[in-house]
Amino acid sequence: MRLTLRLLSSAIAKRPFYVTTPIFYVNAPPHIGHLYSAVVADAIQRFEKLISPDCNVIFSTGTDEHGTKIQQAALKANLSLPHYCDTVSNEYRQLFKDFDVEYTDFIRTTEERHTKAVTHFWNELLKNDYIYKAKYSGWYSVNDEAFVPETHIKEEIRDGEKIKVATDSGHPVEWTEESNYMFRMSAFRTHLQEWLRTDGVVTPAKYQKQLLDMLRNDTYFPDISVSRPSSRVHWAIRVPNDEEQSIYVWLDALINYLTVIGYPDDDAMKLRGRPWPADVHVIGKDILKFHGLYWPAFLMAARRPPPRRLLCHAHWTVDGSKMSKSRRNAVPPRRAPAPPAALRYLLLRGSTLPHDANYSETKLINIANSELADTLGNLASRCCGAALNPRQEFPALRRPHPRARPLRDALDRLPDACYEHYTNYEFYKVADAVMHCLHQANLFFETERPWELKNRAECQSELDAVLHITMETLRVCGIVLQPLVPGLAGRLLDRLAVAERGWRDLRPSWQAADAIHETRRIQGGKFVLFPRISKDKDNLHKKQASA
Ligand code: MSP
Repeated sequence: MRLTLRLLSSAIAKRPFYVTTPIFYVNAPPHIGHLYSAVVADAIQRFEKLISPDCNVIFSTGTDEHGTKIQQAALKANLSLPHYCDTVSNEYRQLFKDFDVEYTDFIRTTEERHTKAVTHFWNELLKNDYIYKAKYSGWYSVNDEAFVPETHIKEEIRDGEKIKVATDSGHPVEWTEESNYMFRMSAFRTHLQEWLRTDGVVTPAKYQKQLLDMLRNDTYFPDISVSRPSSRVHWAIRVPNDEEQSIYVWLDALINYLTVIGYPDDDAMKLRGRPWPADVHVIGKDILKFHGLYWPAFLMAARRPPPRRLLCHAHWTVDGSKMSKSRRNAVPPRRAPAPPAALRYLLLRGSTLPHDANYSETKLINIANSELADTLGNLASRCCGAALNPRQEFPALRRPHPRARPLRDALDRLPDACYEHYTNYEFYKVADAVMHCLHQANLFFETERPWELKNRAECQSELDAVLHITMETLRVCGIVLQPLVPGLAGRLLDRLAVAERGWRDLRPSWQAADAIHETRRIQGGKFVLFPRISKDKDNLHKKQASA
């Protein structure tokens, strides 16, 4: 009992690290753009655990299930709304399982605990006098679930018909007049400006500037509508004490970040270690305004601090256009012609947060083959295979190797460089730095010709040195790669029989008197870390279909 209390109080005392993904609309199955938001957040939480293993990490994700779009999608699928939402929500759960997105909490906006949180939050806004009722009219985009100002509308001809669309998203808008509850957004312009001037609050800085520009340039900063008539949007949470009105889906959705941590129950939040404000909300650039203006204003109005950081990423495109259901160019992750580790690697390695990245199967296969199969996998197979390593050992380092200098220098620099890249969310630089070390290791291995050393009795200690230095490179690279490709890195470290896998275990053996100086047995058996992917698409699809 005393131990339980002690554990409980230490859990309470330590503030957790709280990172979130956006919650995903269930109006369509997931595509690789959605997966991108999730793997960015997952890499962040894995890095956090790597550098502070004692830190309690809360990593939330989930599905956004209310609103007109969902109503329409369920109708089209000819399924009841609850059944439809269950189906797509489960697809997301499965996706995250397949791609090693290791969340601690999965929230669905149709859950009872969320209705409670939203109702409470609404009442707080009302109590603090930030909500009032008014007539409202404007251009409404169902796809964006938002009213669009006149200045952001243009005309287009589609299917021979002239229609009005939102300039930013390209989605059609329709004129809507209704009686709504309004939120006093205008009261927050100055507060938002102050918050947005805090260094690093929106990362990369480009997006922080965009938000500040929105506040500066828009000639007026209107109040926003936060309810819809229930007659139109019935699949939503009702406004407390007004059955005629449903709560605006974006207000509903944003509150998920509070529901997850037990809001509004103070004891529940205490038990979770009071993780508000959230440390990082990962979001895509299309939802920047909702997270960078609406969400902090809602929170301030409810007398809660805004998040510590919004981490915003650009998009994955196909042939240069944004992937989306309406453009019919979405790539479902399971259709990618490569195993999950390869796609996850491409998403983090082949993108930068500020710029769009273009997806293609060729790019996926090329990167997976050249980096995961050839540079990493092949080296691991050669070191661990019975041909060059018949004793199946990670040999001790008994003497320095004179020609290993460039490799050792590269490996010595790797931990600090990658720490900085992870801290700056520059995942591609982590992969680059790791690949640089692995190229050096391949070069060293080739030059030292261990297949010749193994046949000469007098060269055994030299062979051991070559194997040690190469395997040590693999060990260090494996640890560093864990946030990017956890499954693959885990298999590599298992094979090398590496038990300690934290950031503090990164120091290469030659730097530390206390590091691996004992010969260790490695796991035996045939070892292919990452098989090369065939470029023959027909073969591939056939193979996948028969699997
Ligand atoms: N439900 C809202 C978020 C509410 S959070 C309180 C939503 N859902 S979404 O399913 O449309 O998008 C979820 C995430 O996927 C967003 O971060 C969005 O930017 C991301 N992506 C959707 N398409 C994308 C690409 N083509 N590329 C990269 N990410 C994109 O918005």
